Amino acid sequence: MAGKSFKYVIIGGGVSAGYAAREFCKQGVKPGELAIISKEAVAPYERPALSKAYLFPEGTARLPGFHVCVGSGGERLLPEWYKEKGIELILSTEIVKADLAAKTLVSAAGEIFKYHILIIATGSTVIKLTDFGVQGADAKNILYLREIDDADKLVEAIKEKKNGKAVIVGGGYIGLELSAALRINNIDVTMVYPEPWCMPRLFTAGIAAFYEGYYANKGVKIVKGTVAVGFNADSNGEVKEVKLKDGRVLEADIVVVGVGGRPLTTLFKGQVEEEKGGIKVSDDFLHHINATIIVCSFLAFVVSSSSNPSELNLSRSISVNGAFISYFTILLEISTWRVFRDILAAIKSNEEGKTIDVYDYLPFFYSRSFDLSWQFYGDNVGDAVLFGDNDPASPKPKFGSYWIKDGKVVGVFLEGGTPDENKAIAKVARVQPPVENLDVLTKEGLSFASRK
Ligand code: FDA
Ligand code: NAD
Repeated sequence: MAGKSFKYVIIGGGVSAGYAAREFCKQGVKPGELAIISKEAVAPYERPALSKAYLFPEGTARLPGFHVCVGSGGERLLPEWYKEKGIELILSTEIVKADLAAKTLVSAAGEIFKYHILIIATGSTVIKLTDFGVQGADAKNILYLREIDDADKLVEAIKEKKNGKAVIVGGGYIGLELSAALRINNIDVTMVYPEPWCMPRLFTAGIAAFYEGYYANKGVKIVKGTVAVGFNADSNGEVKEVKLKDGRVLEADIVVVGVGGRPLTTLFKGQVEEEKGGIKVSDDFLHHINATIIVCSFLAFVVSSSSNPSELNLSRSISVNGAFISYFTILLEISTWRVFRDILAAIKSNEEGKTIDVYDYLPFFYSRSFDLSWQFYGDNVGDAVLFGDNDPASPKPKFGSYWIKDGKVVGVFLEGGTPDENKAIAKVARVQPPVENLDVLTKEGLSFASRK
């Protein structure tokens, strides 16, 4: 069986793949040893830009401006960079079959790729309302956002439906970021989500009250406690109305759906063990790298990040649809380079017959919308203590929350932090200082973190 052969193949050309390529180079990969195979038509880019500056009417981000690794302040890897380094970037190529026993991949066009070590970085895909058979969910202008092609469709719709109406289905990351982006484009926006407050898997009621108030002040309407159960379209097949379970009907020229995602693991079905929607990786994952498969999914890291996985807050990662998507986020920011440095160090150690330390990971999430920006580190379990100025009408709101479990700080959230303050909350989440009195902590607020 002919075909191209590589020492390392990364399937997927997203954020992880780009950061991995940079790390491979640092580790001295030789020309011709590494290939990245991606179904996207462009070199790896910072996906978070798609729900933010890519959609802004001013200061718009476009490629090649946001190829990785600019998101972490690193070098921007243009397609030429891969060429110079002898890394084969195989774009617009979807792998449709992976035979892990034969170490062979087959593309939709029938090309064959052989590898010695496979790195799975296929990320995740959006959950669609058509997956649940929601009536009318295939109408035109019902849009999703995962890849750059999706973002281009959104940009087109925003142009075409100037000053029109949008309904955003979902109150998570996509819901909050897209509502803001569309509102900035002067679209009339209504958000719809089933929970009592937005982003419930991370926000407490107190945190959410601030964002809901802030969004309302910006003119975003919020409909909570119900879901979209159907859509009406006009004679062109374009969406016109969203029917809600509580009987209300909302007008819409554009619908954006952000109801979660699921890891893309189908290629490996029956060949790897699965757990909760992801590929299961054993506790001693990093010691098993000679298995020649490396899974760049959160699950890989969560189970390797503690010798006692039950201590980890897995529940937070399970969206309403049961996928581990939130944790794919981890690969992006602070950790990506670290994760890959550690993986590649592990490959090297393994080649040299050495073992390596268990991977130590601190969960991190962030988001930006309107003039707001928050960061969160650690775990959101135990008692939550809100502090600071969380009045949505404040000219400069700054507030946060600590989570206290077993007398220790285990997680910290901060809206409006400076770089130093964000560093301080990250440190506190890692060090987990003891807390004797929750009332005192409420009063001390951010200064507790800043003096640690
Ligand atoms: P990613 O999805 O980036 O890449 C997967 C790649 O694999 C894609 O190129 C895909 O086409 C390709 N692929 C899949 N199957 C394939 C196959 N069979 N053959 C070939 N190629 C295949 N996170 C955060 O921390 N802060 C933020 O602000 C944001 N913002 C944000 C906005 C939007 C719109 C999205 C969709 C996501 C975010 N995220 C985020 C999450 C972040 O983007 C996400 O964690 C990373 O993209 C995950 O990186 P991966 O490389 O694992 O997957
Ligand atoms: P999410 O899991 O963050 O939120 C999904 C929301 O949709 C939840 O509020 C959920 O209850 C709600 N929902 C579920 N079914 C619904 C229905 N039928 N009708 C209305 N609402 C419903 O997922 P998302 O917002 O779609 O984002 C997908 C992934 O994209 C995220 O998990 C994240 O990895 C990534 N992302 C991250 C960022 C960031 O980190 N800043 C930004 C954008 C996207």
